[in-house]
Amino acid sequence: MTDLAIMASGLRKAYQDKIVLDGIDVNVRAGTVFSLLGPNGAGKTTTVNILTTLLKADGGTARVAGYDIASETKAVRAAIGVTGQFASVDDLLTGEENLRLMADLQHLGRRESKRIVEGLLDRFDLAESARKMASTYSGGMRRKLDLAMTLIGRPRIIFLDEPTTGLDPRSRRTVWDIVRALVADGMTIFLTTQYLEEADQLADRVTVLDGGKLVAEGTPGELKRQVPGSHVRLRFADAARLDAAARVLTDATPDHESVVLRVPSDGGVKSVRSVLDRLDEYAIEVEEFSVHTPDLDDVFLALTGHSSTEVLAK
Ligand SMILES: Nc1ncnc2c1ncn2[C@@H]1O[C@H](COP(=O)(O)OP(=O)(O)OP(=O)(O)O)[C@@H](O)[C@H]1O
Ligand SMILES: [Mg+2]
Repeated sequence: MTDLAIMASGLRKAYQDKIVLDGIDVNVRAGTVFSLLGPNGAGKTTTVNILTTLLKADGGTARVAGYDIASETKAVRAAIGVTGQFASVDDLLTGEENLRLMADLQHLGRRESKRIVEGLLDRFDLAESARKMASTYSGGMRRKLDLAMTLIGRPRIIFLDEPTTGLDPRSRRTVWDIVRALVADGMTIFLTTQYLEEADQLADRVTVLDGGKLVAEGTPGELKRQVPGSHVRLRFADAARLDAAARVLTDATPDHESVVLRVPSDGGVKSVRSVLDRLDEYAIEVEEFSVHTPDLDDVFLALTGHSSTEVLAK
């Protein structure tokens, strides 16, 4: 028995002479969140489509939930749920009708269908809007409905293709909470995103897709540590305090003009706390404080030597 929910090796895909995937390997442990990071056009949706049997690869093999994506398509489909980049919600139906439709497609009996649909409406906080047309839903509500529809078939593995792109911060957080709850239930999540922050919040492991290849893999922390420029910024009321702080935090760089001290840090709670504790020890007051963590562009620049926008322009 393997505990790998997804195992892919040497996946290749080209459109005419444009190589999108140039032999990529993916291993996802059951019960974890795996995140595929990449800019627009990197091949994230292509990868999802191949692993979910919607698209045939030109080469390579993959097993999802233990089944071969080429020869056991049906079994793969029965084990997975997919929430595409573009919501599959039908605008002309109510939230409840959308869910019922999915339940019918799964051939759930009337009573079972009713029970599951009501449970999901409750769980996703959509019960109040259940009888309203989906066209009246906000972006966040649509995402939630879309996710709920994915869960109707009780999949073991869920593919989420950019689930929060275009959402406001609050809806994004709601989706994150849902993903966490699903993982707590033992599901495996394959998540694509353009946001390092999102991968950081949710993923156990992250890979970066660039130029058809996976250029890095690791935990979010490991990836960020490869990226220079992660630091804590401390602003002081006056130069005396800045100088005092610079004497205590010897690896920091002072900027006298803005009375700011840049302290190298991975931005994690532990390291931030230790910086503040040190200053506390010497009773040095900090006026303002912020954490600069690298974003996808920083990671890209560090890993590939070019920015994600350049990738887009290729
Ligand atoms: N059916 C198709 N025919 C030709 N080219 C395609 C087709 N589908 C995708 N591509 C190309 O393959 C590349 C990868 O596309 P893909 O949709 O997988 O990227 P993505 O990482 O999901 O991007 P985004 O962040 O914009 O969703 C792009 O250059 C795209 O133009
Ligand atoms: Mg995409």
